[in-house]
Amino acid sequence: MFEIAPSILSADFTRLGDEIEAVRAGGATVLHVDVMDGQFVPNITIGLPVVRSIRKVTDMTIDTHLMIENPGQYAAKFAEAGANMVSVHVEADRHLNRTLASIREAGAKAGVAINPATPLVALEESLPFADFILLMSVNPGFGGQKFISTSVSKLRRLRRMIDDGGFAARIEIDGGIDDNNINTIVESGAEIIVAGSAVFGDGEPEAAVRNLLAKGSVFV
Ligand code: DX5
Ligand code: ZN
Repeated sequence: MFEIAPSILSADFTRLGDEIEAVRAGGATVLHVDVMDGQFVPNITIGLPVVRSIRKVTDMTIDTHLMIENPGQYAAKFAEAGANMVSVHVEADRHLNRTLASIREAGAKAGVAINPATPLVALEESLPFADFILLMSVNPGFGGQKFISTSVSKLRRLRRMIDDGGFAARIEIDGGIDDNNINTIVESGAEIIVAGSAVFGDGEPEAAVRNLLAKGSVFV
């Protein structure tokens, strides 16, 4: 079982409500919202007011991916704004476990996001306090980048780390996923699959989600 989480970063912001309805109709259950501050990553996107607006128009799970410095300052605010899942980067937070606790206290699932260059050992001590791990398969900052192929072995190692340790954290993967590689990714143990350009790129988001769900299900 896996879920598709379309990243609205690649959606048409002038028609955001319609884009959300289209991916829901296609079978997507999670809506991935990329929050960038121009400091942690070289791009600026959207923040709390947009999350509040989206909350009003959909029952889908809202998943906010915070690519910001000092995420502890804002993480709980995203949960209060209506996010059901909030992830913060292990590279950005000096007090990660405290931030994870604050997300849970605010009523959302707490996630640890990890960049391609950061070894998995960096999140080992946070696994008992995380509801999910967001494994980056591109260097964060932009949609439409190429999947970094070494992410597959990292994903398999993370799957083993979680299973062997008996942890409950789910695995989400983000960056460069399309209908060619989704099957390998699902087979390697990812449970929530983020896709931006593969969903919104060709103007047929509903069909694109259906296609990803079908391709990811082969042999599974
Ligand atoms: C990258 C973002 C991703 C991105 C995914 O910094 O975190 O969520 O929008 O887009 P695609 O699927 O096009 O790589
Ligand atoms: Zn993301």
